[in-house]
Amino acid sequence: MTPRDLALWRAARPWLDVRANDVHTLIAWRLARTLLALRPGADEAVVLPAIILHDTGWKRMPQDKLAKAVGPNPQFPELQRDHELAGVEIGSEILRRLGLGLNDAAILGIVDGHDTTRAARSPEDAVVKDADKLWRFTPHGVATIGGWFGTPAPETLAMLEDFVLPSLLTPEARIMAQGFLAEGWAAAEREERMNG
Ligand SMILES: [Fe+2]
Ligand SMILES: [Fe+2]
Repeated sequence: MTPRDLALWRAARPWLDVRANDVHTLIAWRLARTLLALRPGADEAVVLPAIILHDTGWKRMPQDKLAKAVGPNPQFPELQRDHELAGVEIGSEILRRLGLGLNDAAILGIVDGHDTTRAARSPEDAVVKDADKLWRFTPHGVATIGGWFGTPAPETLAMLEDFVLPSLLTPEARIMAQGFLAEGWAAAEREERMNG
């Protein structure tokens, strides 16, 4: 990480120790860097800080409701909006305190609505949204989501393929997602072959 992102990460980290958000953030940060390299035109000084701050708000949500806030049939869907608003508050305090000379309004504008808006509101927003969702396709994402919903890997992979893949905004992210899916299906199949 650059000194800028390391400073942001250290400030955000105390807010990221719920629902595996720390590892989620580190993986999404790396995926965003890859998307930025494949897709020139988005400002990395907006994308990468937005990724580090985007899910800080989950820590302020009632912890017993976290697992039921997302997914196909969420019991507490309002927490999706609430964690965005809390993330804007936490992120703006961090940006103000660190004084890195960044475009705070653009960064916080992406945090605000990162889950509850579907369309890309800017090239930077598209990369953040796709990097955030791409994490779900990684081995850590498949295992973590499977844990939340109690779904075995093949079921999680089918859900990602049918519902999340079509929602990705950039062709680069769709290709990356298909690479992760190939690995995920191979791992699931290997499990079956080795046991059967
Ligand atoms: Fe989020
Ligand atoms: Fe996220």
